[in-house]
Amino acid sequence: MTRQLFDHVAEAYDAARPDYPGELFDTLESALGQPLLRARVLDVGAGTGIATRALAGRGADVVAVDPGPGVLSVLRSRSTSRVHPVLGDGNALPLRDGHFDLVTYAQSFHWTRPECSLPEAARVLHDRGVLALWWNFLDTDEQWYDEWSDLAGLLSGGAYDRAQADVEYAAPARESGLFQWVSTVDLPWRRSVRIDDFVTDMSSHSYVSAMAAAEQGRLFDGLRAGLRRDQGADPVEIRYRTRLVVARR
Ligand SMILES: C[S@@+](CC[C@H](N)C(=O)[O-])C[C@H]1O[C@@H](n2cnc3c(N)ncnc32)[C@H](O)[C@@H]1O
Repeated sequence: MTRQLFDHVAEAYDAARPDYPGELFDTLESALGQPLLRARVLDVGAGTGIATRALAGRGADVVAVDPGPGVLSVLRSRSTSRVHPVLGDGNALPLRDGHFDLVTYAQSFHWTRPECSLPEAARVLHDRGVLALWWNFLDTDEQWYDEWSDLAGLLSGGAYDRAQADVEYAAPARESGLFQWVSTVDLPWRRSVRIDDFVTDMSSHSYVSAMAAAEQGRLFDGLRAGLRRDQGADPVEIRYRTRLVVARR
């Protein structure tokens, strides 16, 4: 994978990707045993800063690491002084040992090599620090999603795989032996979004942005038509599930 995979879709990504439910940040505070206010947080694979801003919004001081200079410049332009962007890689963090209360990976851990990124996360956490990995998944049984999944799987040559939503992401952390305990929680939530914005969101996924324009056009035409048929309104309501894996050193 190229390190700048998301740089060319940075604006679309930031404008239209969903954020994360408030309950997720409540759960992080429970796992930490303290509020995020003034916590030292390292957000790895921070991208344009969707999760970074939510963490800083709760008062955390956040170091935001990403290997993409393009996404980091969007992050920099939209962040407060609580956020410190650093160009870097989760597999070899350019940061000192034992400094952070919390290390987060929001939809980014799968881009790293767990055999490198887990020891790196454990190294920069202090004793009893917390590692949190999470992903948003579409969670709907509506027909538009079946149609999207079939066509996206076909046009992406298999790069899109709906079954990824059920991957057990906690296993590498559990098997690493680096953490005292590892647990997984699923948080269901919904968002109301205009169809155009949802199309922009879907266009920022790596398996879509790698497709030729004509193939993307086919996908988006089908998506618009399916959403209009299934929901009959604009904005539409999209159901998500956020899978959160929490591990304590
Ligand atoms: C799907 S985006 C998630 C962005 C952000 N965390 C969010 O909540 O929207 C994945 C991010 O992982 C970054 N990434 C890719 N390889 C990485 C690596 N080896 N180490 C750290 N981040 C990486 C990409 O540059 C991209 O910004």
